[in-house]
Amino acid sequence: MRIDRLSDALGAEISGIDVARLDEPGFAAVREAFHEHQVVVFRDQDLSVEDHIAFSRRFGDLEIHISTDSLLKDHQEILLVSNKKENGKYIGVENAGDEWHSDLSYMPKPSLGSLLYALEISEVGGDTEWSNMYTAYETLPEATKRRIEGLTARHSFNRFRNKRVTIPEQRKEGAKERYEKISPPDVIHPVVRTHETTGRKALYVSPRFTIGIEDLPEDEGQALLDELIEHSVQRDFVYHHKWRLGDLLLWDNRCTLHLACRGIPEGQIRHMHRTTVSGGVPF
Ligand code: SIN
Repeated sequence: MRIDRLSDALGAEISGIDVARLDEPGFAAVREAFHEHQVVVFRDQDLSVEDHIAFSRRFGDLEIHISTDSLLKDHQEILLVSNKKENGKYIGVENAGDEWHSDLSYMPKPSLGSLLYALEISEVGGDTEWSNMYTAYETLPEATKRRIEGLTARHSFNRFRNKRVTIPEQRKEGAKERYEKISPPDVIHPVVRTHETTGRKALYVSPRFTIGIEDLPEDEGQALLDELIEHSVQRDFVYHHKWRLGDLLLWDNRCTLHLACRGIPEGQIRHMHRTTVSGGVPF
């Protein structure tokens, strides 16, 4: 097994392994690299759906995503991240990740990590970026660190409750009813969370799911949120990934945000399978 850093911001590439046939010492090394680098890329993987699910399960229980119309038939642990259509309808989430976010932060127990597997990639566009939220926290001015200590923020899946996002084209029809129906109740999480394994502190807000800061007047909270978001996704903190066929990416949702960069020309297909590992209550 070889582990090479991918950027100054975060990320490592792990080569020389088949994740479907990884023994216990190999898995322990992968887990260690995951905690150190926050995002790990396994190249040239040839995985069945069962392999993908089984490898993901080694990190914990798997979530069934609330977008139930975008799950793989017979394997509900797989969320289809795809711009493929059948009978004129997208088979998966076409706009998945179109705003910076951490998966499932709108749930009481957000995701620990996610594993996205590239089955078809577009020639142009379709890249993904990750931002290092440890660095985002650590580089805040001391006065801001003191200001946000102990603060909590409100998270929501419902795009109609979030003025930082728009309604995606795919979801326009019946959007309000759909978001109202499937969105869980708002949840409150700390603005700064502590990673239960590394013990490091990370900023935990995002434009996609964080809709306000509790404990502050609305205007003041929104201004603070703007400031924290702008700080979090500055280029120095970001790793930009160009997908190759057979890439499997594993990322830590407790200390990163990610963004699907989109830009796929009409007629090109990008088709991916995602599993989402369950996590604990942020503290
Ligand atoms: C996601 O947010 O899980 C999907 C990211 C991507 O499609 O690049």
